[in-house]
Amino acid sequence: MFLKGKRIVLGVTGGIAAYKAVYLLRLLQKAGSEVNVIMTEAATHFVGPLTFQSLSRRPVAIDMFQLHKDMDIAHVSFAHWADAIVIAPATANTIAKLAMGLADNLLTSTVLDATCPVVVAPAMESNMWSNPATAENIERLRRRGFFIVGPEAGELASGGAGLGRMAEPEAVLGCVRYALSRDGVLRGRSVVVTAGPTREAIDPVRFISNRSSGKMGYALAQAALDLGADVTLVSGPVHLAAPYGVQLVAVETVAQMQQAVLEAIQAADALIMAAAPVDYRAEHTYPQKVKKEETGDTWQLRLVRNPDILSAVALARPSRLKVLVGFAAETEELVANALLKLERKGLDLIVANDVSARDAGFGVDTNRVVLIDRRGGVESWPLLSKEEVAMRLMQRVAELLLRGE
Ligand code: PMT
Repeated sequence: MFLKGKRIVLGVTGGIAAYKAVYLLRLLQKAGSEVNVIMTEAATHFVGPLTFQSLSRRPVAIDMFQLHKDMDIAHVSFAHWADAIVIAPATANTIAKLAMGLADNLLTSTVLDATCPVVVAPAMESNMWSNPATAENIERLRRRGFFIVGPEAGELASGGAGLGRMAEPEAVLGCVRYALSRDGVLRGRSVVVTAGPTREAIDPVRFISNRSSGKMGYALAQAALDLGADVTLVSGPVHLAAPYGVQLVAVETVAQMQQAVLEAIQAADALIMAAAPVDYRAEHTYPQKVKKEETGDTWQLRLVRNPDILSAVALARPSRLKVLVGFAAETEELVANALLKLERKGLDLIVANDVSARDAGFGVDTNRVVLIDRRGGVESWPLLSKEEVAMRLMQRVAELLLRGE
């Protein structure tokens, strides 16, 4: 619900990717934002203003000198009304105008007059994108604090392929969310989140793992971003898109996760271990696929304990790392077992979840947790979406960080 009630100006310029802006408008609306669309004259040759007008239920602004019923001087009103401006697609021509500070149409005038974050989603032929003129213009915009999302490689309007396709609307939406969060309470703080399972190989095709989907950890990473933090997400193998703006470190095994975490915490203020690292790995890993003919009807695997990442963190804890949060996945004696883990692992907070419940823990979209702090405070939260659990927990982490604990 982060984008709910946010006022967004969607600027559409003249490129074939203008059709993607229609979907972006829908995504913004679904997220609860209020959207006013400004089109350049060229954009109207690609998608009719009526499409945007019907979807946004507001007049589409094109002409700099057209007076709107509720607005005094159009470009001034849009610039002052908006919480963020997103230009998608942004042509090389509009990017050049923005870099020069031109104000020759309603969109460029609005941007020049605005003080809110501006997101630019370039879309053009790959030669135009790689042209030093465009590269310099983009660099200039970046230096001025514009957020640039994409472009991506793929098929282009010319029929060729290369770098220049507009980023997908979901990524542009993510960038708008990121841009709007940068002055949150955790601005300048660095948070490391772990998510997902690990995989411990037995042979090239088999592994030991668990049912973690990564949903809880990814929701935490997004919540930390929404509060303004810089976020490193150390993730085991999952089928989720990383939130826009995280630094993603993809790992497979506990050993890799431990190494990534120990590196990431060197510059971190908080670590939240929502991952479910596999506790045991096979003593031997086989270089070739083990054949059924070799094993017969039974196959005895010897397992050895994996290192405990949180215990290693507690030993190597840099002084900057002020808040250490663990999760406890339990099937019995929820609070008692979680308390033991909090003490054994030297944590500030532990989030206990009963993973035997069907609507909590592994894989599902909801969680029912008990939050325990190191002073023995115990709070039971009701069944919530993982996003809500994540935001409540990150707010608690933010309080601890801001209090300097
Ligand atoms: O990913 P989802 O499908 O959304 O599911 C979410 C979840 C159930 C995985 C999550 O909410 C959760 O409970 N994560 C912790 C799972 C776990 O490993 O629990 P544990 O009780 O075994 O471990 C306690 C703590 O030690 C955890 O913070 C864990 O990350 C950490 N740990 C565990 C093993 C290990 N080798 N090193 C660790 O640091």
